[in-house]
Amino acid sequence: MPAAAKNPRPRKAVLHAAQPKPLSATKSSALKGKTRVPGDKSISHRALMFGAIATRRTTITGLLEAEDVLNTAKALQALGCPIRKSGNTWEVLGRGVGGLAQPQGALDFGNSGTGARLMMGLLAGHDMAVRMTGDASLSKRPMGRVLDPLKSMGAEVLDGAVRLPLTLRGTADLVPIEYRLPVPSAQIKSAILIAGLHATGATTVIETEATRDHTERMLRHFGAEVRTVEGNGTRAITVTGGGELEGRAVTVPGDPSSAAFLVAAALIVPGSDVTIEGVLVNPTRTGFYTTLGEMGADISLLNEREEGGEPIADIRVRHSRLVGVRVPPERAPSMIDEYPMLACLAVHAVGETRMEGLAELKVKESDRLAATAAGLIANGVAAKVEADTLIVQGGGKVRGGGMVVTHLDHRIAMAFLTLGLGTDRPVTVDDTAMIATSFPEFRSLMETLGATFAEPDLARSRSGP
Ligand code: S3P
Repeated sequence: MPAAAKNPRPRKAVLHAAQPKPLSATKSSALKGKTRVPGDKSISHRALMFGAIATRRTTITGLLEAEDVLNTAKALQALGCPIRKSGNTWEVLGRGVGGLAQPQGALDFGNSGTGARLMMGLLAGHDMAVRMTGDASLSKRPMGRVLDPLKSMGAEVLDGAVRLPLTLRGTADLVPIEYRLPVPSAQIKSAILIAGLHATGATTVIETEATRDHTERMLRHFGAEVRTVEGNGTRAITVTGGGELEGRAVTVPGDPSSAAFLVAAALIVPGSDVTIEGVLVNPTRTGFYTTLGEMGADISLLNEREEGGEPIADIRVRHSRLVGVRVPPERAPSMIDEYPMLACLAVHAVGETRMEGLAELKVKESDRLAATAAGLIANGVAAKVEADTLIVQGGGKVRGGGMVVTHLDHRIAMAFLTLGLGTDRPVTVDDTAMIATSFPEFRSLMETLGATFAEPDLARSRSGP
């Protein structure tokens, strides 16, 4: 490894609160071109974590080099796992299942719920107490949903906290469990399955709504025994603990949640024709694309293929006349991160779009249900929340000109900047610094396609209707 192959140095997510970077998106002319988006965030976290508890060497290409994932890498390094980058490849020298070591200080997960929650599953199987912290957004998010099942396996929360910061005490004698997910969450499922690798015997997670299955796929890729049994409307996933994972080569496909912003931009801006190459099209992640088809979007998946156990494709999208639709609640897990973007896109569709079953949106990086509705209203759109349903009236002229409060939420910032590419007046977001948590290249990539952004005229942006 060359000397330049250093440890990742993530910026401190807490800086975001202190130094907001507002930005406006302005009406753009046709977006054109072929591009790629950075690696999938979910797969990137998992590749690092599984590499860290495998034996020998794992190599990762296409890793998402954004703050969330770099914080996971940094945490694993603090737990005694060598991770470095050489050329375009990340190398993880695994410590074996149960082989991580006591870190010197607290592990800081910044803005990342996935990083923190999956790591709880990993730490639960180690006989040590570890302090876990996060930024202001992550410190508000519920952790009991992961800690409760982990406690029933034998882990302890020393300070009794249900939010970060907290101290988790793991054990080398975890007990396997069978657990029915109370909410459809791949993070809870994954934390339990990862803990299950460290328990002797079979740990089973039962889900009634399919959530993203990257943990199952990648654990199999690393040689673990993972069984999925479907029937009676449920999926039971069982992992057998007590064995080892084997270091592997992982190729991370493009993130469909990042691609969603480019796709939406092309649909919004007249004359656009954009192709995004190498995007993950795992069916547990493609609800947004299914919905776009129903709205009448001219979108096609080309060159479908499989890479590293995951389906990928090139996505071609052209500006389209859209119609409003009802998005059923059972689709929510497969497009959970795409609702802010879909809601902004619905503004440009003729008629009403109803998005149902969105309770989980309230506990993301922000309360995305409230933040999305407020941002739309600030830009002159008729939007409302009724219980767990978000309703957007589209079709008219879209005024824009509003200031959107992002609440440290990267997807709120990117969705509203995308909206602003097609509104009469610029849409301004109060902060963009946290976009670096998932998609640092967002602005430059959009600009390459022809999107226009500007430093905001704060005096002219309004935060209300
Ligand atoms: C993720 C699962 C989802 C998603 C998050 C990433 C994952 O959260 O919102 O961005 O990588 O497992 P939930 O599983 O809590 O719904």
